[in-house]
Amino acid sequence: MKETCNFSFEVYESIDELNAQDATLLKHARQVAEQAYAPYSNFFVGAAALMDNEAIVTGTNQENASYPVTLCAERALMATATSIHPNIGIDTMAISYHNHNANTNSHQPISPCGMCRQSLVEFETRHHAMRIILSGLSGKVYIIQQANQLLPLSFKGDNLK
Ligand code: THU
Repeated sequence: MKETCNFSFEVYESIDELNAQDATLLKHARQVAEQAYAPYSNFFVGAAALMDNEAIVTGTNQENASYPVTLCAERALMATATSIHPNIGIDTMAISYHNHNANTNSHQPISPCGMCRQSLVEFETRHHAMRIILSGLSGKVYIIQQANQLLPLSFKGDNLK
C-alpha cells in the first residue's frame, strides 16, 4: 500500500495579477523587509499577516551574534500577532525578502524554513488554515492554500496525548 500527498499551489507572474487585498499584504511584506535586523546574513525578510479581525501585523527576521538564536520573520510575526491579538487567527500571511548580498536578485519567491513550517502548523492548529503568499521584491508570486501543505505528516500536540 502507498499513501500519496498531493500539493499544488497557484503561480502568478507578478503582484499585478493578485486581488487588491493580497496585493496590499504583499506590499507590506516587501516594505517591512528593509526593517529587518540582519547584520550577519544581510538577508532581509519581511512578513505581513492579515488577521481575522482585519488587523495587519508585520514581522522581520531578528538575528543574533550567536547565530542559532536568530528569529525568522515568520516566527517573529506570529509571536507578535498572538501577543497583540490573542485568540485571533491569521487569514493570510505574505512573505518577501531582500538579499542585500547581491544586486540583481530577490526576484524569486522564497519559502519558509523547516522550523517556521513547524510553527506555522502549530498556529494553524490553534486557529484555522492560513493562506501563504510568497514573493521576492518583484516577479513571480506563489499562493499556498494552507501552511500545513508545506509540512506533510507533521508532528502535532495530539501526538503527545
Ligand atoms: N529567514 C527568515 O526570516 N525566514 C525564512 O523563511 C528563511 C530565513 C532569515 C533567517 C536569517 O536571519 C536569514 O533569513 C538568513 O537565513
